Amino acid sequence: MKVTISVIKADVGSLAGHVKPSQKLLEAVENYVKNHGKGLLIDYNISFTGDDVAILCTHQQGKLNEKVHKMAWEAFLAGTEVAKAQGLYGAGQDLLKDSFSGNVKGMGPAVAEMEFDERPNEPFLFFAADKTDPGAYNLPLYLGFSDPMHNSGLLLSPSMNKGFSYHIMDVSYTEADRVVELNVPEELYDVAALLRDQERFVVESIFSRNNGEQAAAVSTTRLHNIAGKYTGKDDPVMLVRVQGAFPATGEVLSPFNIGQYVAGFMRGSHTGPLMPVKRFTTISFFDGPPVVSCTGFCVHEGKLTEPVDCFDHPYWDYVRDRVSEKATEIRKQGFVGAAMLPFSELEYGGIVDKLNKIDKKFKIRK
Ligand code: F6R
Ligand code: MG
Ligand code: MG
Repeated sequence: MKVTISVIKADVGSLAGHVKPSQKLLEAVENYVKNHGKGLLIDYNISFTGDDVAILCTHQQGKLNEKVHKMAWEAFLAGTEVAKAQGLYGAGQDLLKDSFSGNVKGMGPAVAEMEFDERPNEPFLFFAADKTDPGAYNLPLYLGFSDPMHNSGLLLSPSMNKGFSYHIMDVSYTEADRVVELNVPEELYDVAALLRDQERFVVESIFSRNNGEQAAAVSTTRLHNIAGKYTGKDDPVMLVRVQGAFPATGEVLSPFNIGQYVAGFMRGSHTGPLMPVKRFTTISFFDGPPVVSCTGFCVHEGKLTEPVDCFDHPYWDYVRDRVSEKATEIRKQGFVGAAMLPFSELEYGGIVDKLNKIDKKFKIRK
């Protein structure tokens, strides 16, 4: 059976700053999906990570479907109404357009979708990150799919022996989608050369070269390209199919033990380590650290199993402690050098005004 999995997420208001959505907001989103998804969706699951609410749903309408996207957009509007009524911070923050047109791409919410013929058993992972941008998935996707140090199946399993095809987007190009397709292992170094620059080149999707099937889909929205000003970091979502011709669950999770430094953290303008967290984790230290949750499901005839929280395990407590140390270390450096993002990536305009003012005071010595 052909099924589409869509995840559409937005920040439409949160408690106590940018910490987490309120229970009432979540209920409003969930009730909307429950009532308006009838006859449209097969199944759904509502969750939050930090201040972002994610609507994960299954259906047979295909990708970028107007009805599915409109339903999600309106569910977020329903959440926004509650956020306003409760006086939540940043109510409606990610809904950047006044009216819905076609699909949510370019309108603020992040979206990742995959359409495929269901395998007899179909396990997949749903990742949601907060206080960072889509480039945060570059390194885990590089290592999890192409490095035998994490993906032992590249050596051990004949079903991955042809490698994978990466579709990589140049997210600085705002006229249209600008994408390159590169095949690993042959073009591994080209993939690395692009993925090095997390703010410009972002993995959009990955396909198996053994069976041509899609393995991964990442949201590539850059909010600062849509709004022209800071409205929040992009907080990307990702779907990954696992097992068989794809990496095993644990191989996809493996590189998240690095806690690699990503863009985001306080005011979307700092560098911080990406912490793998449990579902429904809030935001705290220095409006961070950047976090990522991972929920596993199986889907059968479009029906989702119960969710499993993939980072809820003693091993990841140890990783979280180490990532906390990394966060503390880089914060010792405050605003200097690598701790704050380069000028082009700063999300607040204040420093531009400051530098312009100071610039006039410079004198050239004779
Ligand atoms: C980062 C984030 C927060 C805010 C910060 C200031 O993605 O959302 O770090 O940037 O709390 O928030 P405002 O500018 O809304 O007062
Ligand atoms: Mg926010
Ligand atoms: Mg957020």
